[in-house]
Parts: sequence; C-alpha cells; structure tokens
Amino acid sequence: MNIAELMRASALSGMEAVDARVLMRATLGVDDAYLIAHADDELSAQHAAQFRALAARRAAGEPVAYLVGEREFYDHVFKVTPAVLIPRPETELLVELALQHQPKNLLDLGTGSGCIAISIALALPAARVTALDRSDAALAVARENAAVLKARNVTLLCGEWFEAVRGQRFDTIVANPPYVADGDAHLTQGDLRFEPASALAAGVDGLADIRCIVAGARAHLTPGGWLLFEHGHDQAPRCRELLSCAGFNDVQSWHDLAGIERVSGGCAPSL
Ligand SMILES: C[S@@+](CC[C@H](N)C(=O)[O-])C[C@H]1O[C@@H](n2cnc3c(N)ncnc32)[C@H](O)[C@@H]1O
Repeated sequence: MNIAELMRASALSGMEAVDARVLMRATLGVDDAYLIAHADDELSAQHAAQFRALAARRAAGEPVAYLVGEREFYDHVFKVTPAVLIPRPETELLVELALQHQPKNLLDLGTGSGCIAISIALALPAARVTALDRSDAALAVARENAAVLKARNVTLLCGEWFEAVRGQRFDTIVANPPYVADGDAHLTQGDLRFEPASALAAGVDGLADIRCIVAGARAHLTPGGWLLFEHGHDQAPRCRELLSCAGFNDVQSWHDLAGIERVSGGCAPSL
C-alpha cells in the first residue's frame, strides 16, 4: 500500500483524517508537505506495521498527543507524556492575558508540561518566570521542554501550590489548575480517561484547588499584581465571588474563542 491508500483506509475504518495524517507524519518522521509530495510512495512493511499499531491504539481511545509525544501550543511544540495534561488551545487565552500585563516576575502554578510558563518566558525573555508542580514526573517533562525550547528564564520547583515559594512575591500569578468535579462523567470519556486524574479532578464541585489558589495568592502578589486562572465553562460566577471575597479588585472574567467565560482574575489591592 502507498501512503495515501493507508491513510484513506484508516479514515474509512473510522479514524479522523487529521489523526491519520498526524500518525503518518510521526511514523515516517516527516511533515505535511512530504506527505502531499510523496502520497503515492509505497510504504515499507516496517512503516506500515508501525502506522497500523498506532492506529489501533488510537482506535482504542489513546490521545493522539500521547501517541506522537508532542502537542503544539502558542506556536511552540511541547513534549507531552501521560504524566502531563495535554495542552489545550483555550489555555492560550491565559497566556495572552498574562502577556498584556507585561510581567517582570511571574509565577505559574501547576505547570504540567510547562506550556504556559515557557510560552510566556519565550515571549518575554527579560521576565523572571517561576513554575511549579507537585508532580516530579510532570516537572521532568517541563524541564525537557524548557531546555529544548531554550527558555532560560524559567525556574522549575516542586511543591504543593505556594509551598515552594514561601515568602516570595510576584507581579503576576497564573494557573490552570484541576477544576473538574470528582464525579464528572467527562473524566471517564475521551482523552480525559488517559490524562492524570491529579491534573483534572478537584473535589466535589471542582473548585477545591481554585479555592486554595485564590486564598493563598494575595500573600504572594506585589500590590497591584494580578492573579489570572483558567476554570470550567460554568464556574466563572463562583470564581468571581471567591476573588471578591478574598479582597481582589477589578475582578472580571474573559471569554475564550468559543465564547465561554474561561479565565477569571483580579488585582491585588495596594498595601
Ligand atoms: C490542569 S493541569 C495544567 C497543566 C498545564 N499548566 C497546562 O495548562 O497544560 C494542572 C496541573 O496542576 C498540578 N497540580 C495539581 N494539584 C497541585 C497542587 N496541590 N500543587 C501543585 N500542583 C498541583 C498537576 O500535577 C497538573 O500538572
């Protein structure tokens, strides 16, 4: 079989055409332009077997990003493994909002693959970026991403929320914390089944980690500094309430490209 025929056969057996293309690219170690130019090339038996093995795992539900070991985010390619959440396009909103504040000293809580911290660090090479996670396995992935992408202004720390930055203050704190309710049916569906539960689930209402972050942030922000965090599609009103109760000013939420209130935040009052 040639490249085009094998990809078409996978699409006919139910795989999304885009997934077939990504898996073929990974099998051959080539880009889209190569696949187009070489669509009629015969595949070696070894490459055909490799592609079919990946296609079978995809059919069993494994996320494409884990199968190929990478995902694009904010125009950079990040290594991903099952130890980290797969970076989502909607999280780019958080990066854009943080960049609008031109941070000089930013903290990223729950960095996972490092996609938020590293994207900000690369956009603002003069900024100091600290990123933390409680998962050593996730931090190993973030460390590799920072090295490969040459983000030299990122410091990675291990610890529970603010534990590793006790006594430190930042002008901006960003977070994409776990925010799915423990019993949410989505946790047993689609890609989420394969992602670390500790990156997704946050108590009975999904707000346990957001509560910790909002409660701890003011002690780690300089006066006038901003806390910005991602949350679930229906959590914005509760998040604004938490921010207001914690004494933040200028509390607001921002919509993602799908029109969903996806990020909320507030400004720490002056002393
Ligand atoms: C939703 S993932 C976000 C990963 C990455 N920032 C992104 O946007 O793709 C949440 C991350 O928070 C980390 N995490 C969960 N609870 C934590 C805690 N108590 N302290 C520090 N990190 C935590 C998880 O290990 C996971 O990497």
